Amino acid sequence: MTRVETQHDLQRSLEQTFGPHLHAVCERTARALATLGYDGLLVYSGSLLPVFEDDRTYPFEANAPFKVWAPLADAPRSFVWFAPGAAPRLIIERPDDYWYKPAALPQGYWVRYFDVHAVTDRGAARSLLPDLARAAYIGEAFAGLDDWGIGALNPRPLMQRLDYPRAAKSAYELVCLREASRLGALGHVAAAAAFAAGASEFEIELAFLEACGLREQELPYNPIIALNSAGAVLHYQVLDKQAPRERHSLLIDAGAEFAGYASDITRTHSRTAGDFRALIARMDQMQQSLCAGVRAGVDWRDVQLRAHELTAEVLREAGLVRCTAAEAVSTGVTRVFLPHGIGHLLGLEVHDVGGFMRTEQGGEIDRPEDHPHLRLTRVLQPGFVVTMEPGIYFIPQLLEAARADGRARHINWPAVEALAPFGGIRIEDDLAVTASGCENLTREAFASLPVSR
Ligand code: GLY
Ligand code: MN
Ligand code: MN
Repeated sequence: MTRVETQHDLQRSLEQTFGPHLHAVCERTARALATLGYDGLLVYSGSLLPVFEDDRTYPFEANAPFKVWAPLADAPRSFVWFAPGAAPRLIIERPDDYWYKPAALPQGYWVRYFDVHAVTDRGAARSLLPDLARAAYIGEAFAGLDDWGIGALNPRPLMQRLDYPRAAKSAYELVCLREASRLGALGHVAAAAAFAAGASEFEIELAFLEACGLREQELPYNPIIALNSAGAVLHYQVLDKQAPRERHSLLIDAGAEFAGYASDITRTHSRTAGDFRALIARMDQMQQSLCAGVRAGVDWRDVQLRAHELTAEVLREAGLVRCTAAEAVSTGVTRVFLPHGIGHLLGLEVHDVGGFMRTEQGGEIDRPEDHPHLRLTRVLQPGFVVTMEPGIYFIPQLLEAARADGRARHINWPAVEALAPFGGIRIEDDLAVTASGCENLTREAFASLPVSR
């Protein structure tokens, strides 16, 4: 079950797994509603957001709690109504419009599980719903919502009960995540070839999009495509249209989306052989050893701490620090080179919900001291999908701060300055946790491609 599937197999897998998936969503929602005394749940797909003083809107992003139910990315102002005991009702807004093309009536493997209705406006949607005095609503407010007589808007106790189990993916969700990984891997192969051919950041993005077959707004997040020292900007967003005269390196963090589910993949490339390319290879080994430790029962906070121990060893072997690995960790030197968290939950959102939740009733698990950017503190369970994304960066602001304090003597400044023009390295894979280990969705996806790397 680890090979990414052919299109035919993909359709069959979706057909086979969606029913049980939706059943599980219905069951857990029914339980949460009963516990909290609601008799139904209304979920909103989201509004189109207007641009200030214009009659255009921003690209539509469906709300994740709506995508939990239906893989509909392109149906603004639509609803799912769920009352335990009946099939969920999908109410799609299809305005009578000749300026924009209304959302298509959905088709495919999932539609037969829904009681589907198309309406021309929200008033017609309301008339398809019962009395909502004991119902809960999840989504943003819209004009007129106050008149719908809804019992509770975005009640936290209900949302927590629905968010918490989203960490563990169903078989259906894993099918979608594998396909998102396959599309992302296709994009990465094309991006690497564009980099080798001398492309600009923008041209590399175009190569990525074309290979995935997705437009920019269909991606799960804005790709980070950084040439040279731009790799040191963690969420670099520029997409320069000019290729730099000297090209040293590419850090590309870009993922694809399938049926609402994301991949989140980073690769780093060096144009020339040398110390930076050797460091990429060493980071790759280190990343793989972190992946090898992932299984159910592992506390993600320990993975974060282990990542710093291994980063310290790599920094020492590469001659970037002058102290022992233990000192590099204890003095905070590793945090100069690795300031972000080692990974996060992945699913309908690239940083999926519930990363800190102690139980489905709420409560948070704190991050380890000195690790403020970690986004996941839970103990892994089978079905969790997480990213594993160690990095080593040469970030001017953090290096300057270290130069000014006691950490300065631990850092080999000439070695750091020699690699600074390369920006940094991140290697990021997506892992599906099992009882005894994990499935590396990203490596499997690359391996499945005709031209794999
Ligand atoms: N692409 C954002 C992240 O890796 O978390
Ligand atoms: Mn990530
Ligand atoms: Mn990423």
